[in-house]
Amino acid sequence: YPFWAQENYEVPREATGKLVCANCHLGKKKTEVELPQAVLPDTVFEAVVKVPYDLDSQQVLGDGSKGGLNVGALLMLPDGFTLAPDDRIPEEMKEEIGGTFYTPYSADHPNWLLVGPVPGEQYQEIIFPVLSPDPATDKSVIFGKYQVHVGGNRGRGQVYPTGQATNNVVYTASKGGIITDIDKGDYGTEVTIKTADGVTVTESLQPGPELIVSKGDAVEAGAALTNDPNVGGFGQHDTEIVLQSPNRIKGLLAFLAAASLTQIMLVLKKKQVETVQAANMTF
Ligand code: HEM
Repeated sequence: YPFWAQENYEVPREATGKLVCANCHLGKKKTEVELPQAVLPDTVFEAVVKVPYDLDSQQVLGDGSKGGLNVGALLMLPDGFTLAPDDRIPEEMKEEIGGTFYTPYSADHPNWLLVGPVPGEQYQEIIFPVLSPDPATDKSVIFGKYQVHVGGNRGRGQVYPTGQATNNVVYTASKGGIITDIDKGDYGTEVTIKTADGVTVTESLQPGPELIVSKGDAVEAGAALTNDPNVGGFGQHDTEIVLQSPNRIKGLLAFLAAASLTQIMLVLKKKQVETVQAANMTF
């Protein structure tokens, strides 16, 4: 869950660039983001995080039954960028985002935002309304190009914050040998394996993943005893955004206008010289 990232990591992005959600959500699936290439200061814009998956898919829940997937997202904006205040969000953007609830990552980092878990059927796209900073009023911000990191997840993770595995994983044999017993109890299954040197080990499987071995089968150490029930996964996307100075754009337009004007003047001058030359030749 996004709040587990908040509780366990001061900074949700590791030195390697990996977002911490990936530490517990081991499956990989694509996440995309739509952002303007450049924004002007003090402007509200949308960051759209897409967390696509097959909406017909079902995952194993904590009690072993099947159910739909929830999604969540982490958006790491550059310093100074924040969630747009309600009174700055245009009406049509408000309609699009509906009742989405955003949480700032921490008091120190209101520019990192979390959403989720929310139902995946409704939130294939998670829209963040963002307000860009204004270097004129906030002296700590300067115009330029900045990095944006986005993470999106669908489905349950594989590891709890305690380090324990969830039941949304493949169960494997810790030792190789022959399966001598499979005991389907009220809560989970016990698979007993007898190794070549006569030792027996018992693997306790939580309900959820489907058993793919039967009594009498020979298994190698590390071999899968169940299918992989995980239909979800986490994906991250790193991109950039330019905080653009309006004066720079005005300067560029003025320069382009001046350049066009000089070119036109040069052509006119050439025409004039040609006319004079043509006139001379008739003398
Ligand atoms: C569940 C997102 C970080 C472990 C979920 C769910 C979402 C989500 C949307 C609900 C899935 C569902 O019900 O279908 C995220 C995001 C993270 C993040 C966006 C990063 C910002 C973490 C971390 C851990 C973790 C750091 C481990 C310490 C889990 C587990 C579940 C889960 C074990 C399943 C819980 C259960 O149903 O028993 N996460 N998560 N997540 N997450 Fe995360």
